[in-house]
Amino acid sequence: MSVRAEITGWGKYVPEKILTNHDLAQMVDTNDEWITSRTGIKERRIRTEKDTTTTMAVAASQDALGVAGLTAHDIDLIVVANSSPDYLLPASANLIQHALGATCPALTVAAGCSGWVYALVTGSQFIQTGAYKNVLVIGVELISYALDYTDRSTCILFGDAAAAVVLQPNTDGAGVLTFELGSDGGLAQNLWVPGGGTVNPVSQSVVDNREHYIRMNGQEVFKFATRRLTDCLKNITGQAGMTPESLDVIIPHQANLRIIEYAARSLELPLDRFFINLHKYGNTSAASIPLALVEAIEEGRVKAGQIAGMVAFGSGLSWAGAVVRMGERIHAGGAPELAVPAMA
Ligand code: UT7
Repeated sequence: MSVRAEITGWGKYVPEKILTNHDLAQMVDTNDEWITSRTGIKERRIRTEKDTTTTMAVAASQDALGVAGLTAHDIDLIVVANSSPDYLLPASANLIQHALGATCPALTVAAGCSGWVYALVTGSQFIQTGAYKNVLVIGVELISYALDYTDRSTCILFGDAAAAVVLQPNTDGAGVLTFELGSDGGLAQNLWVPGGGTVNPVSQSVVDNREHYIRMNGQEVFKFATRRLTDCLKNITGQAGMTPESLDVIIPHQANLRIIEYAARSLELPLDRFFINLHKYGNTSAASIPLALVEAIEEGRVKAGQIAGMVAFGSGLSWAGAVVRMGERIHAGGAPELAVPAMA
């Protein structure tokens, strides 16, 4: 039987600080009723002083390694999905690798909110070819740093978080079964940060015009998201000889409850087939799907032997989906109390 990448460890980290819709109503012209009815979000986590992209990723990774019974020295490759690095150089993956005490190669995948599924698929290729045995796949975003807290159309949507999984080889049928990765760069300016890159480097005018913050054309992204979510779920299940109906649970990108409800209606699936935690965290970009996956496992919503469909969309504009069969090691509950020490 062919080798697949099985999820054998999982962990998450969210900052302690909670920013509620009522808190945001004190900061911009908005209110809880508007945010709840248009997005489903009630609160999100925002970094405190002790949180950096690296520290959040390390905390999630240590739990994931503990569940898998590995130490940092056992990791062969780290793939980090991230668009909010500690510094523009080096990539977030190198700093996370060092802070974990790992000595393996590490790379960052920057594909916005689709990034973690891109990273999962990237990591799984190295397992399938036999090149590596233990791959750590992290989704981490400290996205609040790029939010304009005078722009009510974007600042209410996003939050900070990290989550990680360990991938290991499996020959019993569990693991990543199918995937689809997509990009439409022609739509890039619907969700972007216009300043701070090489075309429009940091300058006083970039700062004065608030071009170092995320800008979004919400309605265009909404249309893109609803189309891609349904098409991608059909494509990835079709490749596996299934339909979206055959999935035990669907873990969609947690951007907006209305987008998920739309997908459920068009696929004629009950809404409870979709795992939803966006009311607690908002849109955590590349951390969104792994954070939802970890909570779905912890809450027993996805169990050993079951099949999950994961599907993301985001800046790029990009999209990505994967069908994953859960292995025998999937069990409800968090990381063990005494995780195997992961620090060097
Ligand atoms: O990972 C990908 C991330 N992005 C997404 O998934 C975004 C997808 N898009 C969306 O989720 C929705 O488009 C939003 C939630 C961003 C906006 O919802 P909408 O139903 O598309 O609202 P809209 O942009 O059409 O705005 C409707 C009204 C406008 O006022 P007028 O022009 O009708 O007077 C906005 O100014 O709502 C106003 N508005 C707000 N009002 C109160 C926009 N943001 C707010 C706000 N509070 N926070």
